[in-house]
Amino acid sequence: MENAQNASQAQPARGTANQARITASVYSSHVPAIGAAIDLGKTGEPYWQPLFAGFEPTKQWMRENLPDVVFLVYNDHATNFDLSVIPTFAIGTAAEFEPADEGYGPRPVPKVMGHPELASHIAQSVIQQDFDLTIVNELKVDHGLTVPMNLMFGSPAQWPCRVIPLHVNVVQYPVPSGRRCFALGQAIRRAIESFDEPLKVQIWGTGGMSHQLQGPRAGLINREWDNRFLDRLIADPADLAEMPHIEYVREAGSEGIELVMWLIARGAMADVAGGPAPRLAHRFFHVPASNTAVGHLILEN
Ligand code: DHB
Ligand code: FE
Repeated sequence: MENAQNASQAQPARGTANQARITASVYSSHVPAIGAAIDLGKTGEPYWQPLFAGFEPTKQWMRENLPDVVFLVYNDHATNFDLSVIPTFAIGTAAEFEPADEGYGPRPVPKVMGHPELASHIAQSVIQQDFDLTIVNELKVDHGLTVPMNLMFGSPAQWPCRVIPLHVNVVQYPVPSGRRCFALGQAIRRAIESFDEPLKVQIWGTGGMSHQLQGPRAGLINREWDNRFLDRLIADPADLAEMPHIEYVREAGSEGIELVMWLIARGAMADVAGGPAPRLAHRFFHVPASNTAVGHLILEN
């Protein structure tokens, strides 16, 4: 890719022992009803038990592979941003992020601690690599961010690491293409791995899988397509990134377009830059959770 080559010339080479590195990418749906099940103490109920069981290996893996920072790609659901301002990509550079009130009060989860120094470095580097990030110094985070935090870490009194939120507009058209998201992930990897502090950083992609919340096709779930998406994300993400947005919407429902965010996390993995293929540490798929198919992967660098 021409872009990537030009950009990498503008960036220092990666990978001394004193620089930050991406240790893994993690992918997960972010259904708000999962948050409600946690907050209302319903995780052991028959409807929810199989879903939470699928994240038990994850919580164990997280304890063994705790990062210093999670770079968390998610979408705001007209909570912090609304139709008055629609940033395509927005990075949270604040020291902390309060859980948002989504209409029934803020979720009873700890506030999310940011990493302003690394976030500012990423903003500088990624913007100089020709991606227009909106810089957000005040941001309230909704279920798109807090539900994956609970799925990976459970419900601790304080979150065990810092978080840099990256919001992607997948709510109001026009939305960014999978190709652009995949290229952005590559720029983010170069940014993180040129930060002069030996931080362990995970990158998470959230949202999806198939779901449609309104209109005549409300309730749409497409298990075959979702599982094929997981296969391709693992094995051939560059090809998957060429998929046009209309296929997401047709096959995975209007909200299935959230899956383009997974390509940002996947683009940040070492193999995309010529390194070894990632190791699949965990794969899980479950239907139903509210109106959504839940998919989850852990890929280690
Ligand atoms: C549902 C799923 C989502 O991803 C979302 O943002 C809102 C609702 C649902 O399945 O109910
Ligand atoms: Fe969503």
